[in-house]
Amino acid sequence: MKTIVANWKMNGTVDYIDDYFDKFLSNVKIVNSEVIFAVPYVFLEHVKKIVKNQNIKIFAQNCSHEEDGAFTGEISASMLSSMGIDGSIVGHCERRKYGENCEIINKKIKILAKYNLKSIICIGEENKNQSESILREQIKECLYEIDSKNHVVIAYEPVWSVGRNDNLDLKEIAHSIEIIKNMVIELGFEKLKILYGGSVNKNNAREILTNLDINGVLVGRDSLNPMNFSQIVNFLE
Ligand code: PGA
Repeated sequence: MKTIVANWKMNGTVDYIDDYFDKFLSNVKIVNSEVIFAVPYVFLEHVKKIVKNQNIKIFAQNCSHEEDGAFTGEISASMLSSMGIDGSIVGHCERRKYGENCEIINKKIKILAKYNLKSIICIGEENKNQSESILREQIKECLYEIDSKNHVVIAYEPVWSVGRNDNLDLKEIAHSIEIIKNMVIELGFEKLKILYGGSVNKNNAREILTNLDINGVLVGRDSLNPMNFSQIVNFLE
């Protein structure tokens, strides 16, 4: 079963969401795949109320690495869990820009797992052709002392492909995916799901999903268009 993640980033309003799901839900058939909507915190509850399909999961886009306390503006794993949220993206490159490092990401993964929530861990190199050592280091540090194997998914998102419109170099991406696969096997995570993210859209999704050895994709911009995103999901049905 493939996983298709929509990362809405800092987009949306209540009206937009109502209209979005009217269109999306009447256009998709989700039987053979799992769809995850990672939406802004303030909309988690609203989206959860609208979406009743068992194969659609609702995720946050981030979570604090602290358990609770004096951390103004932060949201904890226990809060997400108490709202019936399924998990969170952690370590997105748009957050790493603000100082989030692998040590913090590792704490987030552990605390999410403690509350039985999943982590989609984003990793990826900044520049082309420098992936191997960076990916190995990121995986090692992010997965340090993590034993809850069912709670983690890796999203390989080369920073150079996120939010861009260039043609994707699938050969280079395939090479990085292979490095990640070997590394997670070395660490004893044989069955860990690996997703690809960065410039996935309705025009290239089929090629990406059929040519790369991956368990799904993470979609940013094109997930904001309900018709385009439903088309990506429907490829798998
Ligand atoms: P994009 O974003 O699909 O707009 O490149 C991907 C992401 O959020 O990681």
